[in-house]
Amino acid sequence: MKIMVVGGGGREHAIIKKIKENKAVETVYALPGNGGIARDAVCVNIGAKDIDGIVAFAVEKGIDYAIVAPDDPLVLGCVDALEAKGIPCFGPRANAAIIEGSKVFSKDLMKKYGIPTAKYEVFDDAEKALEYVKTAPIPTVVKADGLALGKGVIIAMTREEARDAVISIMQDKQFGKSGDKIVIEEFLEGPEVSVLSFTDGNTVVPMISSMDHKRAKDNDTGLNTGGMGTVAPNPYYTAGIAAECMEKIFLPTIRAMKAEGRTFKGCLYFGLMITKDGPKVIEYNCRFGDPETQVVLPLLDCDLLTVMQAVTNGKLADTEVKFSDKHACCVILASEGYPESYKKGFTIDIPDAVADKVYVAGASVNEKGELVTSGGRVLGCTAVEDTLPAAIEAAYGICDSVSFENAYCRRDIGARALKALAEA
Ligand code: AMP
Ligand code: GLY
Repeated sequence: MKIMVVGGGGREHAIIKKIKENKAVETVYALPGNGGIARDAVCVNIGAKDIDGIVAFAVEKGIDYAIVAPDDPLVLGCVDALEAKGIPCFGPRANAAIIEGSKVFSKDLMKKYGIPTAKYEVFDDAEKALEYVKTAPIPTVVKADGLALGKGVIIAMTREEARDAVISIMQDKQFGKSGDKIVIEEFLEGPEVSVLSFTDGNTVVPMISSMDHKRAKDNDTGLNTGGMGTVAPNPYYTAGIAAECMEKIFLPTIRAMKAEGRTFKGCLYFGLMITKDGPKVIEYNCRFGDPETQVVLPLLDCDLLTVMQAVTNGKLADTEVKFSDKHACCVILASEGYPESYKKGFTIDIPDAVADKVYVAGASVNEKGELVTSGGRVLGCTAVEDTLPAAIEAAYGICDSVSFENAYCRRDIGARALKALAEA
Protein backbone atom coordinates (compact mmCIF):
# COMPACT_ATOMS: atom_id res chain seq x y z
CA MET A 1 0.00 0.00 0.00
CA LYS A 2 1.01 3.57 -0.63
CA ILE A 3 0.24 5.78 2.35
CA MET A 4 0.32 9.57 2.44
CA VAL A 5 0.65 11.46 5.73
CA VAL A 6 -0.07 15.18 5.65
CA GLY A 7 1.96 17.17 8.19
CA GLY A 8 5.57 17.51 9.28
CA GLY A 9 6.08 17.45 13.05
CA GLY A 10 6.84 15.04 15.87
CA ARG A 11 3.26 13.82 15.87
CA GLU A 12 3.48 12.86 12.19
CA HIS A 13 6.80 11.12 12.83
CA ALA A 14 5.14 9.02 15.55
CA ILE A 15 2.21 8.18 13.26
CA ILE A 16 4.56 7.18 10.45
CA LYS A 17 6.74 4.95 12.63
CA LYS A 18 3.65 3.17 13.94
CA ILE A 19 1.99 2.79 10.53
CA LYS A 20 5.14 1.16 9.17
CA GLU A 21 4.71 -1.76 11.58
CA ASN A 22 2.04 -3.00 9.14
CA LYS A 23 3.69 -5.27 6.56
CA ALA A 24 1.25 -4.22 3.82
CA VAL A 25 2.71 -0.71 3.88
CA GLU A 26 5.19 -0.35 1.00
CA THR A 27 5.77 3.40 0.80
CA VAL A 28 4.92 6.28 3.10
CA TYR A 29 4.94 9.81 1.69
CA ALA A 30 5.07 12.73 4.12
CA LEU A 31 3.83 16.14 2.94
CA PRO A 32 5.95 18.03 3.76
CA GLY A 33 7.55 15.85 6.46
CA ASN A 34 10.90 17.11 7.82
CA GLY A 35 14.59 16.27 7.83
CA GLY A 36 14.16 13.57 10.48
CA ILE A 37 10.99 12.07 9.04
CA ALA A 38 12.99 11.65 5.81
CA ARG A 39 14.69 8.66 7.48
CA ASP A 40 11.34 6.87 7.66
CA ALA A 41 9.30 8.24 4.76
CA VAL A 42 9.62 9.92 1.38
CA CYS A 43 9.25 13.63 2.11
CA VAL A 44 7.58 15.72 -0.57
CA ASN A 45 7.84 19.48 -0.50
CA ILE A 46 4.12 20.28 -0.51
CA GLY A 47 2.84 22.33 2.42
CA ALA A 48 0.11 20.99 4.70
CA LYS A 49 -2.19 23.89 3.76
CA ASP A 50 -1.74 23.45 0.00
CA ILE A 51 -4.92 21.41 -0.49
CA ASP A 52 -4.79 21.49 -4.31
CA GLY A 53 -1.15 20.40 -4.28
CA ILE A 54 -1.87 17.57 -1.82
CA VAL A 55 -4.79 16.26 -3.87
CA ALA A 56 -2.87 16.46 -7.16
CA PHE A 57 0.04 14.55 -5.62
CA ALA A 58 -2.24 11.85 -4.16
CA VAL A 59 -3.95 11.31 -7.51
CA GLU A 60 -0.66 11.24 -9.43
CA LYS A 61 0.92 8.66 -7.08
CA GLY A 62 -2.21 6.53 -6.74
CA ILE A 63 -2.26 6.86 -2.94
CA ASP A 64 -4.25 4.05 -1.30
CA TYR A 65 -4.85 5.72 2.04
CA ALA A 66 -4.30 9.25 3.37
CA ILE A 67 -3.85 10.40 6.94
CA VAL A 68 -4.39 14.12 7.48
CA ALA A 69 -2.86 15.00 10.83
CA PRO A 70 -2.76 18.81 11.44
CA ASP A 71 -5.70 21.09 12.23
CA ASP A 72 -5.26 23.54 9.33
CA PRO A 73 -5.76 21.14 6.39
CA LEU A 74 -8.62 19.41 8.20
CA VAL A 75 -10.42 22.71 8.79
CA LEU A 76 -9.67 23.72 5.18
CA GLY A 77 -11.39 20.58 3.84
CA CYS A 78 -8.42 18.41 2.84
CA VAL A 79 -10.34 15.21 3.61
CA ASP A 80 -13.37 16.38 1.61
CA ALA A 81 -11.13 17.16 -1.37
CA LEU A 82 -9.29 13.80 -1.22
CA GLU A 83 -12.52 11.85 -0.82
CA ALA A 84 -13.95 13.63 -3.84
CA LYS A 85 -11.15 11.95 -5.81
CA GLY A 86 -11.99 8.57 -4.28
CA ILE A 87 -9.04 8.47 -1.86
CA PRO A 88 -9.96 6.98 1.54
CA CYS A 89 -8.79 9.15 4.43
CA PHE A 90 -8.29 9.22 8.16
CA GLY A 91 -9.54 12.52 9.53
CA PRO A 92 -12.78 14.49 9.80
CA ARG A 93 -14.37 16.43 6.97
CA ALA A 94 -14.41 20.22 7.27
CA ASN A 95 -17.97 20.30 8.61
CA ALA A 96 -16.83 18.18 11.58
CA ALA A 97 -13.34 19.70 11.98
CA ILE A 98 -15.15 22.90 12.96
CA ILE A 99 -15.33 21.39 16.46
CA GLU A 100 -11.73 22.66 16.74
CA GLY A 101 -11.90 25.36 14.07
CA SER A 102 -14.48 27.45 15.93
CA LYS A 103 -14.59 27.74 19.71
CA VAL A 104 -17.99 29.44 19.41
CA PHE A 105 -19.28 26.37 17.55
CA SER A 106 -17.91 23.93 20.14
CA LYS A 107 -19.16 25.94 23.14
CA ASP A 108 -22.64 26.27 21.61
CA LEU A 109 -22.64 22.53 20.83
CA MET A 110 -21.80 21.68 24.44
CA LYS A 111 -24.46 24.04 25.75
CA LYS A 112 -27.14 22.66 23.40
CA TYR A 113 -26.38 19.03 24.30
CA GLY A 114 -25.67 19.49 28.02
CA ILE A 115 -21.98 18.51 27.84
CA PRO A 116 -20.08 19.83 30.90
CA THR A 117 -17.83 22.79 30.14
CA ALA A 118 -16.97 26.23 31.56
CA LYS A 119 -19.77 28.85 31.52
CA TYR A 120 -19.20 31.39 28.76
CA GLU A 121 -20.32 34.40 26.73
CA VAL A 122 -19.71 35.03 23.02
CA PHE A 123 -18.86 38.46 21.59
CA ASP A 124 -18.51 39.75 18.03
CA ASP A 125 -18.33 43.37 19.17
CA ALA A 126 -15.22 44.59 20.99
CA GLU A 127 -17.06 47.40 22.83
CA LYS A 128 -19.52 44.92 24.33
CA ALA A 129 -16.71 42.55 25.31
CA LEU A 130 -14.82 45.43 26.99
CA GLU A 131 -17.97 46.40 28.88
CA TYR A 132 -18.45 42.77 29.98
CA VAL A 133 -14.92 42.32 31.37
CA LYS A 134 -15.44 45.36 33.63
CA THR A 135 -17.62 43.17 35.86
CA ALA A 136 -16.72 39.59 34.84
CA PRO A 137 -15.48 37.30 37.63
CA ILE A 138 -11.66 37.28 37.78
CA PRO A 139 -9.63 35.27 36.77
CA THR A 140 -11.35 34.97 33.42
CA VAL A 141 -10.39 33.25 30.19
CA VAL A 142 -10.43 35.01 26.80
CA LYS A 143 -10.34 32.80 23.69
CA ALA A 144 -10.14 33.72 20.01
CA ASP A 145 -12.84 31.85 18.06
CA GLY A 146 -10.63 30.44 15.31
CA LEU A 147 -7.30 28.62 15.00
CA ALA A 148 -4.40 30.58 16.47
CA LEU A 149 -1.42 28.19 16.54
CA GLY A 150 -2.36 27.21 20.10
CA LYS A 151 -1.85 30.80 21.29
CA GLY A 152 -5.43 32.08 21.18
CA VAL A 153 -6.21 31.43 24.86
CA ILE A 154 -5.40 34.08 27.45
CA ILE A 155 -5.90 33.45 31.15
CA ALA A 156 -6.49 36.94 32.56
CA MET A 157 -5.64 37.23 36.25
CA THR A 158 -6.75 40.88 36.41
CA ARG A 159 -9.33 43.07 34.66
CA GLU A 160 -6.52 44.94 32.91
CA GLU A 161 -5.21 41.71 31.43
CA ALA A 162 -8.72 40.76 30.30
CA ARG A 163 -9.13 44.17 28.66
CA ASP A 164 -5.73 43.91 26.96
CA ALA A 165 -6.63 40.43 25.68
CA VAL A 166 -9.88 41.67 24.14
CA ILE A 167 -8.10 44.61 22.51
CA SER A 168 -5.25 42.53 21.10
CA ILE A 169 -7.53 39.79 19.73
CA MET A 170 -10.52 41.83 18.50
CA GLN A 171 -9.11 45.26 17.69
CA ASP A 172 -5.42 44.70 16.92
CA LYS A 173 -6.29 41.38 15.22
CA GLN A 174 -3.30 39.54 16.68
CA PHE A 175 -4.68 36.31 15.19
CA GLY A 176 -6.30 37.86 12.10
CA LYS A 177 -9.84 36.76 11.34
CA SER A 178 -9.64 34.10 14.06
CA GLY A 179 -10.36 36.97 16.43
CA ASP A 180 -13.52 38.31 14.75
CA LYS A 181 -15.41 36.60 17.54
CA ILE A 182 -14.26 35.69 21.03
CA VAL A 183 -15.41 33.47 23.86
CA ILE A 184 -14.98 34.76 27.41
CA GLU A 185 -15.34 31.92 29.87
CA GLU A 186 -15.25 30.90 33.47
CA PHE A 187 -11.83 30.00 34.89
CA LEU A 188 -11.78 26.34 35.93
CA GLU A 189 -9.35 24.65 38.27
CA GLY A 190 -8.10 21.10 38.54
CA PRO A 191 -5.69 18.71 36.87
CA GLU A 192 -5.82 18.49 33.09
CA VAL A 193 -6.10 15.27 31.14
CA SER A 194 -5.80 14.73 27.39
CA VAL A 195 -7.84 11.88 25.96
CA LEU A 196 -7.44 11.15 22.26
CA SER A 197 -10.11 8.87 20.85
CA PHE A 198 -10.82 6.94 17.69
CA THR A 199 -14.33 7.46 16.41
CA ASP A 200 -16.18 6.46 13.26
CA GLY A 201 -19.12 8.69 14.14
CA ASN A 202 -21.07 5.99 15.98
CA THR A 203 -18.55 4.23 18.19
CA VAL A 204 -15.95 6.05 20.25
CA VAL A 205 -12.87 4.27 21.60
CA PRO A 206 -10.74 6.37 23.95
CA MET A 207 -6.99 5.83 23.71
CA ILE A 208 -4.79 5.70 26.77
CA SER A 209 -4.95 9.02 28.66
CA SER A 210 -2.03 11.43 28.79
CA MET A 211 -0.76 14.60 30.46
CA ASP A 212 0.76 17.49 28.53
CA HIS A 213 3.10 20.12 30.03
CA LYS A 214 2.24 23.32 28.20
CA ARG A 215 4.39 25.92 29.93
CA ALA A 216 7.92 26.54 28.71
CA LYS A 217 9.71 26.30 32.07
CA ASP A 218 9.88 24.01 35.10
CA ASN A 219 7.11 24.09 37.70
CA ASP A 220 4.62 25.25 35.07
CA THR A 221 6.13 28.71 34.70
CA GLY A 222 7.03 30.65 31.56
CA LEU A 223 4.99 31.09 28.41
CA ASN A 224 2.47 28.68 26.96
CA THR A 225 3.93 26.45 24.26
CA GLY A 226 2.62 23.73 21.97
CA GLY A 227 3.69 21.27 24.69
CA MET A 228 7.09 20.56 26.30
CA GLY A 229 6.52 16.94 27.21
CA THR A 230 3.95 14.28 27.98
CA VAL A 231 3.39 11.18 30.04
CA ALA A 232 0.86 8.38 29.59
CA PRO A 233 -1.25 7.13 31.23
CA ASN A 234 -2.39 10.16 33.25
CA PRO A 235 -2.80 9.12 36.92
CA TYR A 236 -5.63 11.63 37.46
CA TYR A 237 -7.72 9.74 34.90
CA THR A 238 -9.03 6.98 37.14
CA ALA A 239 -11.45 4.24 36.04
CA GLY A 240 -14.27 6.15 37.72
CA ILE A 241 -13.45 9.39 35.89
CA ALA A 242 -13.12 7.45 32.61
CA ALA A 243 -16.61 5.98 33.02
CA GLU A 244 -18.05 9.42 33.82
CA CYS A 245 -16.33 10.92 30.76
CA MET A 246 -17.71 8.21 28.49
CA GLU A 247 -21.25 8.76 29.73
CA LYS A 248 -21.30 12.55 30.04
CA ILE A 249 -18.78 13.73 27.46
CA PHE A 250 -17.51 11.23 24.85
CA LEU A 251 -20.75 9.57 23.72
CA PRO A 252 -22.84 12.76 23.98
CA THR A 253 -20.29 14.59 21.80
CA ILE A 254 -20.26 11.91 19.08
CA ARG A 255 -24.06 11.78 19.09
CA ALA A 256 -24.34 15.57 19.05
CA MET A 257 -22.10 15.83 16.01
CA LYS A 258 -24.12 13.19 14.21
CA ALA A 259 -27.40 14.87 15.13
CA GLU A 260 -26.06 18.13 13.71
CA GLY A 261 -25.31 16.42 10.38
CA ARG A 262 -21.57 16.69 11.11
CA THR A 263 -20.59 13.06 11.73
CA PHE A 264 -17.03 13.06 13.09
CA LYS A 265 -14.65 10.38 11.82
CA GLY A 266 -11.02 10.34 12.84
CA CYS A 267 -9.23 11.20 16.05
CA LEU A 268 -11.23 13.40 18.39
CA TYR A 269 -9.13 14.90 21.16
CA PHE A 270 -10.82 15.75 24.44
CA GLY A 271 -8.93 18.33 26.51
CA LEU A 272 -10.43 17.81 29.97
CA MET A 273 -10.16 19.40 33.37
CA ILE A 274 -11.03 17.30 36.39
CA THR A 275 -12.78 19.94 38.52
CA LYS A 276 -14.31 19.42 41.94
CA ASP A 277 -17.67 19.22 40.13
CA GLY A 278 -16.42 16.45 37.83
CA PRO A 279 -14.70 16.39 34.45
CA LYS A 280 -15.34 19.29 32.08
CA VAL A 281 -14.30 19.95 28.50
CA ILE A 282 -11.63 22.66 28.13
CA GLU A 283 -11.30 22.15 24.39
CA TYR A 284 -11.85 19.75 21.55
CA ASN A 285 -9.23 19.15 18.88
CA CYS A 286 -10.15 17.48 15.60
CA ARG A 287 -6.83 15.59 15.43
CA PHE A 288 -4.09 13.78 17.30
CA GLY A 289 -2.38 15.98 19.91
CA ASP A 290 1.27 16.94 19.73
CA PRO A 291 3.18 15.77 21.84
CA GLU A 292 0.44 13.47 23.23
CA THR A 293 0.70 11.22 20.16
CA GLN A 294 4.37 10.63 20.93
CA VAL A 295 3.43 8.82 24.17
CA VAL A 296 0.05 7.36 23.18
CA LEU A 297 0.98 5.55 19.96
CA PRO A 298 4.07 3.81 21.40
CA LEU A 299 1.67 2.22 23.90
CA LEU A 300 -0.79 1.08 21.23
CA ASP A 301 -0.60 -2.70 21.21
CA CYS A 302 -2.32 -3.40 17.91
CA ASP A 303 -2.04 -2.36 14.29
CA LEU A 304 -2.67 1.38 13.83
CA LEU A 305 -3.49 1.19 10.13
CA THR A 306 -6.17 -1.48 10.75
CA VAL A 307 -7.82 0.71 13.39
CA MET A 308 -7.65 3.78 11.15
CA GLN A 309 -9.22 1.92 8.25
CA ALA A 310 -11.98 0.66 10.56
CA VAL A 311 -12.68 4.30 11.46
CA THR A 312 -12.88 5.22 7.78
CA ASN A 313 -15.15 2.26 6.98
CA GLY A 314 -17.46 2.72 9.96
CA LYS A 315 -16.36 -0.63 11.44
CA LEU A 316 -14.76 0.52 14.67
CA ALA A 317 -17.24 -1.45 16.82
CA ASP A 318 -15.90 -4.71 15.32
CA THR A 319 -12.22 -3.81 15.70
CA GLU A 320 -10.00 -4.51 18.66
CA VAL A 321 -8.06 -1.52 20.02
CA LYS A 322 -5.54 -2.50 22.68
CA PHE A 323 -3.07 -0.58 24.80
CA SER A 324 -0.15 -1.94 26.76
CA ASP A 325 -0.13 -1.48 30.54
CA LYS A 326 3.28 0.17 30.42
CA HIS A 327 4.12 3.85 30.90
CA ALA A 328 5.52 6.33 28.40
CA CYS A 329 7.29 9.67 28.80
CA CYS A 330 8.23 12.12 26.04
CA VAL A 331 10.57 15.03 26.76
CA ILE A 332 10.75 17.76 24.14
CA LEU A 333 14.14 19.22 23.33
CA ALA A 334 13.48 22.74 22.09
CA SER A 335 15.54 25.62 20.74
CA GLU A 336 16.51 28.11 23.47
CA GLY A 337 14.12 31.05 23.15
CA TYR A 338 11.08 29.01 22.06
CA PRO A 339 8.13 29.83 22.06
CA GLU A 340 9.48 33.29 21.19
CA SER A 341 12.38 33.86 18.80
CA TYR A 342 15.24 31.38 18.54
CA LYS A 343 18.24 30.61 16.32
CA LYS A 344 18.16 27.76 13.80
CA GLY A 345 20.60 25.76 11.73
CA PHE A 346 22.54 23.92 14.49
CA THR A 347 23.71 20.39 13.71
CA ILE A 348 21.79 17.66 15.52
CA ASP A 349 23.48 14.48 16.69
CA ILE A 350 21.23 11.49 17.36
CA PRO A 351 23.18 8.31 18.24
CA ASP A 352 21.93 5.22 16.33
CA ALA A 353 21.22 3.44 19.61
CA VAL A 354 18.38 5.87 20.43
CA ALA A 355 17.22 6.86 16.92
CA ASP A 356 14.12 4.67 17.25
CA LYS A 357 13.03 6.58 20.32
CA VAL A 358 13.41 10.07 18.94
CA TYR A 359 10.58 11.74 17.07
CA VAL A 360 11.85 14.62 14.99
CA ALA A 361 9.72 17.77 14.95
CA GLY A 362 11.72 20.80 13.82
CA ALA A 363 14.70 19.74 11.72
CA SER A 364 15.81 19.94 8.13
CA VAL A 365 18.74 18.62 6.14
CA ASN A 366 21.38 21.19 5.12
CA GLU A 367 23.44 21.25 1.91
CA LYS A 368 26.07 18.99 3.55
CA GLY A 369 23.38 16.40 4.24
CA GLU A 370 23.44 17.02 8.00
CA LEU A 371 20.34 17.16 10.17
CA VAL A 372 20.00 20.72 11.52
CA THR A 373 17.50 22.51 13.75
CA SER A 374 14.74 24.39 11.93
CA GLY A 375 11.98 24.83 14.49
CA GLY A 376 11.14 25.68 18.09
CA ARG A 377 10.35 22.17 19.19
CA VAL A 378 13.14 20.08 17.69
CA LEU A 379 13.05 16.52 19.09
CA GLY A 380 10.74 14.39 21.23
CA CYS A 381 12.67 11.82 23.27
CA THR A 382 10.29 9.00 24.17
CA ALA A 383 10.75 6.03 26.47
CA VAL A 384 8.37 3.18 27.30
CA GLU A 385 8.98 1.30 30.54
CA ASP A 386 7.08 -0.77 33.09
CA THR A 387 6.75 2.08 35.57
CA LEU A 388 6.41 5.85 35.31
CA PRO A 389 9.66 6.62 37.22
CA ALA A 390 11.57 4.28 34.89
CA ALA A 391 9.99 5.88 31.79
CA ILE A 392 10.90 9.38 32.99
CA GLU A 393 14.47 8.38 33.78
CA ALA A 394 14.88 6.64 30.42
CA ALA A 395 13.40 9.59 28.47
CA TYR A 396 15.89 11.97 30.12
CA GLY A 397 18.64 9.44 29.37
CA ILE A 398 17.77 9.71 25.66
CA CYS A 399 17.63 13.51 25.95
CA ASP A 400 21.11 13.61 27.43
CA SER A 401 22.51 11.40 24.67
CA VAL A 402 21.31 13.56 21.76
CA SER A 403 22.76 17.01 21.26
CA PHE A 404 22.53 20.30 19.42
CA GLU A 405 23.63 23.80 20.30
CA ASN A 406 21.08 25.98 22.10
CA ALA A 407 18.98 23.00 23.21
CA TYR A 408 16.78 23.25 26.27
CA CYS A 409 14.18 21.07 27.91
CA ARG A 410 12.07 21.10 31.02
CA ARG A 411 13.60 18.94 33.72
CA ASP A 412 10.32 18.15 35.48
CA ILE A 413 8.27 16.30 32.86
CA GLY A 414 6.21 13.71 34.73
CA ALA A 415 6.89 15.20 38.18
CA ARG A 416 3.27 16.15 38.73
CA ALA A 417 2.11 12.70 37.62
CA LEU A 418 4.56 11.08 40.06
CA LYS A 419 3.18 13.23 42.85
CA ALA A 420 -0.39 12.22 41.93
CA LEU A 421 0.64 8.54 41.99
CA ALA A 422 2.24 8.99 45.41
CA GLU A 423 -0.93 10.63 46.76
CA ALA A 424 -3.31 8.04 45.26
P1 AMP B 1 -6.55 25.52 24.82
O1 AMP B 1 -5.75 26.17 23.73
O2 AMP B 1 -8.02 25.70 24.70
O3 AMP B 1 -6.07 24.12 25.10
O4 AMP B 1 -6.14 26.27 26.16
C1 AMP B 1 -4.80 26.30 26.56
C2 AMP B 1 -4.71 26.08 28.04
O5 AMP B 1 -5.38 27.14 28.72
C3 AMP B 1 -5.41 24.82 28.52
O6 AMP B 1 -4.63 23.69 28.41
C4 AMP B 1 -5.68 25.18 29.97
O7 AMP B 1 -4.51 24.99 30.74
C5 AMP B 1 -5.95 26.65 29.91
N1 AMP B 1 -7.40 26.92 29.90
C6 AMP B 1 -8.22 26.98 28.83
N2 AMP B 1 -9.49 27.21 29.22
C7 AMP B 1 -9.46 27.32 30.56
C8 AMP B 1 -10.47 27.57 31.56
N3 AMP B 1 -11.74 27.78 31.26
N4 AMP B 1 -10.06 27.60 32.86
C9 AMP B 1 -8.77 27.41 33.20
N5 AMP B 1 -7.79 27.18 32.32
C10 AMP B 1 -8.12 27.12 31.01
N1 GLY C 1 -0.67 19.27 22.95
C1 GLY C 1 -1.87 19.99 22.72
C2 GLY C 1 -2.35 19.97 21.34
O1 GLY C 1 -1.96 19.18 20.51
O2 GLY C 1 -3.22 20.79 21.03
